[in-house]
Amino acid sequence: MNHSGDADPGETAVLRAPGEDLHAGDPNQPRRKVLVLNGVNLGRLGTREPDVYGHLTHYELAADVRAVGLTLGLDVEVRQTDDESELVRWLHEAGDGRIPVVLNGAAWTHYSIALRDAVSQRTADLVEVHLSNIHAREEFRHHSVISAVASGVIAGLGPIGYEAALRFIAARAADQVS
Ligand code: DQA
Repeated sequence: MNHSGDADPGETAVLRAPGEDLHAGDPNQPRRKVLVLNGVNLGRLGTREPDVYGHLTHYELAADVRAVGLTLGLDVEVRQTDDESELVRWLHEAGDGRIPVVLNGAAWTHYSIALRDAVSQRTADLVEVHLSNIHAREEFRHHSVISAVASGVIAGLGPIGYEAALRFIAARAADQVS
């Protein structure tokens, strides 16, 4: 698997509604590119504290998120890194390309001013997502350094949070076209 965790969209797609068309969206329109960026330790999903983060692996999450993106007419690329500077570079890439982002900054969310400064340079929507409800956990997780510079925040919905974020991005993209 490459760093993106990309997979054949035909794989497990627990986020997809039964019968939902995988190839929805106007076939004459190019799919809007979206980056889903997952930070430190999220590559360990599936085995990492499953009672908190669930049993889905990052590979499965990436496949599901891409499949949902297809139903929304989005070209979703999922990436994960344990290297903070790599995540910052991806945010610069998104900023330069006016690419919307779904960001789970994981532990960096709570203290990385470098991450905050990179998010501040965004040129398109950026939705902060957390699988767990960070506000119901230890106090050090209650504060996010990026929330104030994000378009919005979703926490505690598990993988469905990523789907909600993509739906928001797709709706905004449709607004901008019309
Ligand atoms: C997390 C919450 C963070 O507090 C934690 O450090 C993570 C994952 C979440 O998705 O719930 O690694 O961002």
